[in-house]
Amino acid sequence: MTRTRTRTYAWLVAVILAAGLAACSSQPAPAPAASAPPAPAVDKDQLAVFAPLPASVPAESGAASADIVTLGRMLYYEPRLSKSQTISCNSCHDLAKYGVDNQPTSDGHKGQMGDRNSPTVFNAAAHFTQFWDGRAADVEAQAKGPVLNPVEMAMPSEARVVAVLKSMPEYVELFGKAFPNDKQPVTYDNMAKAIGAFERNLMTPARWDRLLDGDASALTPEEKVGLKTFLDTGCQACHNGALLGGTSYQRLGAAKVYPDLTDPGRFKVTKVESDKGTFKVPSLRNIEKTGPYYHDGKVASLDKAVRDMAEYQLGKKLTDEQAAQIIAFLKVLTGKIDPEYTKAPVLPKSTAATPKPDIS
Ligand code: HEC
Ligand code: HEC
Repeated sequence: MTRTRTRTYAWLVAVILAAGLAACSSQPAPAPAASAPPAPAVDKDQLAVFAPLPASVPAESGAASADIVTLGRMLYYEPRLSKSQTISCNSCHDLAKYGVDNQPTSDGHKGQMGDRNSPTVFNAAAHFTQFWDGRAADVEAQAKGPVLNPVEMAMPSEARVVAVLKSMPEYVELFGKAFPNDKQPVTYDNMAKAIGAFERNLMTPARWDRLLDGDASALTPEEKVGLKTFLDTGCQACHNGALLGGTSYQRLGAAKVYPDLTDPGRFKVTKVESDKGTFKVPSLRNIEKTGPYYHDGKVASLDKAVRDMAEYQLGKKLTDEQAAQIIAFLKVLTGKIDPEYTKAPVLPKSTAATPKPDIS
């Protein structure tokens, strides 16, 4: 009797797991075209430099509570964290546009343009450091930057941010729930912690992850050709790990001097001469959606971005065919965005005590 029940139960679990997996995995590989090339065998050893995307990137202190994440989502979309009360994190990192604004550089306070391209926030928590030059250690440290940056959200001080948040009773309550052990829960640091906690679940699993999990049918024959060209060209020397990037700093122009490079890159942070012109290697996940490209956003097309990489990073000229093959592979890295998780929240109403927008 007990035995039968256990068995029935095990069977049910298997069905639920299978259904769950089917529901979680992204769309199946499209049917191969009639003239499909034969799929090259995927060499497991060559895939060892990559890793499947984790479901989330918990902070060292452990996974955040649902209350912190809910607060973080609201703050991510909160324009009153800016001086003009018109700019939120989502303005430059639009979650409906794969976490970018598709501009070469973004306009912040009073339309001022920054000098670097806005990278995506999707999967960013898994980078070894944040920003093109790695000047913030993690997403929590990063989130403290833009709010006070004069060309971004331009708030005059941390105190002003706290005053805005404290002027709305709903925020005071939400910070209290999110940080129950803090005597003063509404702080600038806790704002950044909550936004970081929200970002730590902004992951976009793709068909690529199914291949890494052992499902050889996840990619079409054309995409496997593209993967082979990517590997044979040597892109994985820098674009590796779970993000195909985000694991090291490298010189832009490793093989051949890159023209018109004015940004000092990581040198800005370290002041070490050899760091001049080096940048954090960006992730290639969702790359077809996140143009324009490079730290200055000056490369408009993915085709040029890929060809220039081969030339300046590896000293190789790609044929039209090879470039197209690599792009077919890169599209496999486009993942699924969870619309429920990223949905814009309803924000609390300003009160008489809320500081007024300041466009000066
Ligand atoms: C005005 C546009 C703008 C706003 C507003 C803005 N950012 Fe950014 N963000 C950028 C730019 C530009 C960079 C790259 C700057 C650099 O590397 O020097 C960046 C970098 C980042 C990164 C690093 C990603 C990586 O690949 O290293 C994260 C994470 C991020 N922003 C999150 C946020 C959050 C959270 C907010 C709100 C608190 C925010 N941003 C507000 C433009 C913006
Ligand atoms: C020696 C290290 C290195 C190699 C090899 C390399 N890359 Fe890169 N890649 C980088 C760095 C560093 C950047 C950032 C450059 C910048 O923003 O100025 C980058 C940027 C990119 C970008 C633009 C990403 C974005 O978000 O703007 C793409 C696309 C890209 N690489 C693809 C490739 C492909 C395809 C190959 C192989 C043909 C390759 N890379 C080889 C280091 C490398």
